[in-house]
Parts: sequence; C-alpha cells; structure tokens
Amino acid sequence: MLKEIDHENGTRQAGLEVISAHKMSDHSMKRTYFPGITDIVVITDPAEIRTISNDSRFDRDFIERGPVRNVQLLRKILRVFSLNGRLFPIILPRTNPSRAAAQEELRLRLNVRADEVKHGPAELEPLAEWVRGIGTEEKVDLLVQQSIGRLFVETFTATEESLAAGHLVLEAASSSNVLKMLAWRITGRLERAKTLLASMVNGDPVGVLAMSTARQLIVDGLHKMRQLAADPALRFSITTEAAADQCLIAPTNVVRQAKTSGEVSGCPFRRGSLFILELGSGSKGAANRDLVFLSQSWSHCPAEQWVRALLEGVWTRVSAALHES
Ligand code: HEM
Repeated sequence: MLKEIDHENGTRQAGLEVISAHKMSDHSMKRTYFPGITDIVVITDPAEIRTISNDSRFDRDFIERGPVRNVQLLRKILRVFSLNGRLFPIILPRTNPSRAAAQEELRLRLNVRADEVKHGPAELEPLAEWVRGIGTEEKVDLLVQQSIGRLFVETFTATEESLAAGHLVLEAASSSNVLKMLAWRITGRLERAKTLLASMVNGDPVGVLAMSTARQLIVDGLHKMRQLAADPALRFSITTEAAADQCLIAPTNVVRQAKTSGEVSGCPFRRGSLFILELGSGSKGAANRDLVFLSQSWSHCPAEQWVRALLEGVWTRVSAALHES
C-alpha cells in the first residue's frame, strides 16, 4: 500500500492518508512532508527499494539545503562519513568520476581474499572457536575488526582503542541525538576516532567505515551463527551456504536524495526530498536477500563475496568440529 501524508494541504486533508493507484498491491511508501520542516519518504517494500536504488533521479549527490530536518540529517551523514573534508566512498554520488572504478578494484581485490577464506583455513580458528561458544562478546568484536583491518594492512592488530573508536563512529552514524553529536564536535572525539582508525589502515576511508559500521554487521551475524551452532537439530541439517546466508545482516537503511521534482509509484516528491531505503526489514525473506548488499544497484557492496566467504569459512570449521564431537 502506498501512503502519502501531505501536511502542506493540512487544512484540506488533515489526518487524511492519500492512497494512490497502488492500493491493490502491497507496496508501501510513506512521505512525511511539512514545508520547511521535513520532507522524508520511507521505503519498506523490497520492489520499491530496488526501483528507487536504480532510478537515476535518486542519488547520494547530497545538497544541504531544504527543510530543516533534511538538512540536519544530511549534515550528520556528511560529517560522520568524511575525514578532513574528504567524503567516504559510501556517500559518493553515482557519477563521481573515481567511485565506480574504486568499487570494482576493491571488489576484485576482496574476491581473491574470499577464495582464501571460503573453505575455512586455520586463520579462522579463533572466530570458529568463539562461534562454538568459547569467549566473550568483546573477543569476537576484536577478532572481526582485526580480520577487516587485515584486508588493508597485513599486520593490522585490533586494540581496545581501535575497537572503542569503531564503536564511536558506529554510534555517531546511528544516533539521532543532536546534543551528543554537538558535544562530540566540540570535543573533537569523532574526528579523533576516525583519525586513529585511518592511521591504522594507511588512511583508507573504506577501512575506517568497514572497521566501524560493517564490523558490527558481521559481529551481529556471528552472534546469530553462535545460536545456530548451539541448536542440535539445525547444525547437522543446514548447508554451509544456508548457514552463512542466515547470518548476513543488512544495514538498517541507506539514504538517497531526489535530484529533481517528480513522482515515483504514485508518490510525489520534490528536489531535495530524502528517501530512506529500509534494507534491514526489506532484506527479510529468501527472495529479497539481494538487498543485504544492494547487489542489483550501482552502489552494490564490493565486499559481498568476502563477507559471505568469511561466514562460510567459519561455519565450515564449526560444523566439522561438531560432527567430530
Ligand atoms: C555484513 C557486512 C556488510 C554489509 C551487509 C554491507 C552492505 C552494503 C550496502 C547495502 C551497500 C550499499 C550502500 C548504498 O547503496 O548507499 C554497501 C556499500 C559499500 N560497502 Fe559494504 N557491506 C558490508 C561490509 C563491507 C566491508 C567489510 C567493506 C570493506 C572492506 C565494505 C565496503 C563498502 C563500500 C566501499 C561501499 C560503497 C560502494 C559504492 O557505492 O561505491 N562493505 N555495503
């Protein structure tokens, strides 16, 4: 179902939901629009997410003008995902001259690493041991950050400080607490955290991002895997691919901005409207797993094969040991 709440014409339509032509389908798109205040559309339907992520009218070409709430959200995104004025690739526009080439280069490089970890080499034993039930939450967090860091610098060693920095960047990315963000800006805590992480991976902003936000997704996935491993009925019946797939956790959402005014699936929007694509909920269900990494979009994650291979490699070791015991 497609819903538009048009607060501009509040007197005419106060409290009324405008149901569009899509009313027979289960599509769902919700726009919250108060002129000058907010203009944000939340997309939860998997098909709509695919449509919008591939429609060139929506991009990450962010302009910091428009309704106050939009500007507030954009400023936060731009601040968190940049370092010394340099934007991280995750928020570069589709047409940025170097983005696609860097994405492909990273994908190819990580795919070589994927082949190395897929069959569960000995280097994955510490992660496998944790999944079998030995070790604390902090332990797995350190191990995952270290695995990610080593994609960038072979000798990378995660520390309590690097982990704390990763958590701070993650908190900044997911928090909407304006006062907290302001405090971090004044004290420079967020910049320091990003600078520390960058210094450990030759200044690569992708490394900073991966050790902060992607790290948590993989850690959450391994928690899921620990549950699977503890379930005697499951652990002998499930294939390695299926086990890994169940442990893939999508980012909660990604953001796009409308470059022009127009209409999509019956929902009107203006230049500057923000579209929040809810990948976390949208990626549930076997038919929608492409949304975990937005695999069908120009912005697809270059680490998809590596993340899958890492989870498969860990599960391979875990299930082999369980079969033996
Ligand atoms: C469970 C782990 C991960 C998940 C679920 C995930 C998911 C995603 C998704 C959904 C996007 C698209 C963002 C958008 O459209 O705005 C993305 C982009 C990206 N991811 Fe990942 N990711 C993961 C891990 C990683 C890791 C470990 C790295 C680096 C080593 C990485 C590097 C990137 C980069 C550089 C982009 C931007 C690509 C571009 O638009 O040019 N990701 N990821």
